[in-house]
Amino acid sequence: MNPGADSLGPKDVHLWRAHLHELAPLAGQLRSTLSPDERDRAERYRLSKDGEAFTIRRGLLRAILSRYLHSDAGEIRFKYGPFGKPSLDPDKDALSFNLAHSQDLILCAVSRRALGVDIEFLRPLPDLASVAARFFVRPDADRVRALPMPRRLAAFYTCWTRQEAYLKATGDGLSAAPATIDAGLHAAGWKLETLLTVPDYVGALAAEGVDWCVSWLDWPLNGSARG
Ligand SMILES: CC(C)(COP(=O)(O)OP(=O)(O)OC[C@H]1O[C@@H](n2cnc3c(N)ncnc32)[C@H](O)[C@@H]1OP(=O)(O)O)[C@@H](O)C(=O)NCCC(=O)NCCS
Repeated sequence: MNPGADSLGPKDVHLWRAHLHELAPLAGQLRSTLSPDERDRAERYRLSKDGEAFTIRRGLLRAILSRYLHSDAGEIRFKYGPFGKPSLDPDKDALSFNLAHSQDLILCAVSRRALGVDIEFLRPLPDLASVAARFFVRPDADRVRALPMPRRLAAFYTCWTRQEAYLKATGDGLSAAPATIDAGLHAAGWKLETLLTVPDYVGALAAEGVDWCVSWLDWPLNGSARG
């Protein structure tokens, strides 16, 4: 077993990375750990493949958290913030987590600090400039628009995921007005890191404080690297 994969110091942020297609064969096993309300939610997705993806994500989240909590994945209970952010019920061991997914990739951040993570596949966006104008602060939108492709696309998603990671850290999600958030984020008490470790994806992590450090871990566990 990887040392440190379930011991989480006060400055640690563990960033678990998994691929949907690799977990698909385990969907039945993961489903068996879900609560009745989670199974209902999986059933309610219009497309069954989306329900299956949710089942896999939620089962993975439970499996990851069970390592830190030393309990069965099926025994974990969640509560939800006003905009749907899940957290442990009851709060346990000051453990925070946040999950993000895009295409085949799932990221799950675990820490003892409030945090949010976002990831986006670098999908071409025809109306990139108008989305940037609508959702970014003016200097960010201007800077993105001025870049040539493909740097423009990467800069767009960098800004987007930095904003969203922060909004997910606070739990406000997209209910907040993203255009009021500077993706450079000079908000007191928070640090933001851009995540460029996975080819074809850009992500960001926001966590409370400035003295934290990210370790990447792959699920299923086969190694970690200081990031
Ligand atoms: C949370 C939100 C930003 C997710 O965006 P997304 O790009 O679709 O999805 P991501 O992959 O980044 O994150 C999804 C995960 O974040 C977590 N999450 C859900 N709501 C969250 C919130 N408000 N804050 C932080 N994390 C949240 C969940 O673990 C979710 O995983 P799941 O889909 O497997 O349950 C977006 O759905 C949102 O803004 N929700 C708020 C909705 C809202 O405000 N509703 C009010 C009605 S007006």
